[in-house]
Amino acid sequence: MPDHQRRASQPLKANPTSLASGNNMSESVDWDSLTFSLTPTDTMYITTIRADEPWMPGQLQPYGDIPMSPAAGVLNYGQGLFEGMKAYTTSKGRIVCFRPEENARRMQRGADRLKMPPVPESIFVDAVEQVVNANRHWVPPTGKGALYIRPLLMGSGPVLGVAPAPSYTFLIYVTPVGPYFKGGMTAIDLLISDHHHRAAPGGSGGVKAIGNYAPGMKPSKEAKALGFAEVIYLDAETHTCIEEVGAANFFCIKDGTLYTPELTGTILPGITRDSIIQMARHLGHDVVEGKVEATFAMEADEAFCCGTAAVISPIGSITLGETKSTYGDGQPGPITTKLYDALTGVQNETAEDTFGWIHPLPSL
Ligand code: PLP
Ligand code: COI
Repeated sequence: MPDHQRRASQPLKANPTSLASGNNMSESVDWDSLTFSLTPTDTMYITTIRADEPWMPGQLQPYGDIPMSPAAGVLNYGQGLFEGMKAYTTSKGRIVCFRPEENARRMQRGADRLKMPPVPESIFVDAVEQVVNANRHWVPPTGKGALYIRPLLMGSGPVLGVAPAPSYTFLIYVTPVGPYFKGGMTAIDLLISDHHHRAAPGGSGGVKAIGNYAPGMKPSKEAKALGFAEVIYLDAETHTCIEEVGAANFFCIKDGTLYTPELTGTILPGITRDSIIQMARHLGHDVVEGKVEATFAMEADEAFCCGTAAVISPIGSITLGETKSTYGDGQPGPITTKLYDALTGVQNETAEDTFGWIHPLPSL
């Protein structure tokens, strides 16, 4: 195993060098200490086409490095998208995914924005099923975490001028993960970024473009050095309204009503966000999608951020300049907890799947 992979791996009790050859090293994973980091698994899915060809189903192959032209569009001009979803071992003892069709559709919208050929939903979902099935022993036991599924779509062919690449690769790898933020449901402290924005109107903030993420690394590292878990970005036009939390959507709750930034093209339309909106309404809460001023959010009763990786992460405090607002007594608020239980209940199949979001893997 290359050194960079070894450093990024989860703690394994045995020598992980045989991972690359596809041995069942999942038996050596300590499921109780999973974090959100990379453990190389056995098998990935890959398919490549020329720009003028239709997508064809791909193949499974051993997880590992892929050859690529130094002039690849993705390496030179960031013509690439990623997705993130999870597979769970549920209380019914089966493996399920959560709304994978939504990830397929979001990737199609992103492909349109980045001038890449969209992968048909049927090929996308079939690829997810195949790669999860092939790595099913890497899906953590119920309640211990999830198998994170990472689809990539990229301009893999060579191009020198700033233009769409001549060929494209759709790839999926998977890795078992634990909580994104340390402590899972422990409330996190967030800092509103004073100097940086994540996206601007007309840009690529509304799609999962790979290029949206590197510019967030500096503000995120700086916030972490000050003891915060992440940054909150404000809108680039007025610098007054909350947009997103790093790689998660934002909600606050005041007098039983949920408030979340509206989708105007600068924030990612999170699938968790959409699920929470539907669940909260079903549970009798009003949900307002609109402009959420930072000053309003800082006076709310509860706040949380959400995403596939973040699940629902309660926010304990928000700091804006010299002002720090705290929520409750540092414990997750009651509505946040209710929504967390509702969402994870569906994902773990301990609660009824009212909305038909669970996608069981077809049996082998
Ligand atoms: N916002 C950003 C910028 C993200 O990267 C993510 C993660 O995918 C989310 C929000 C949450 O989206 P989802 O709930 O679909 O995972
Ligand atoms: C996800 O929640 O799936 C994300 O994409 C977050 C990620 C950037 C780690």
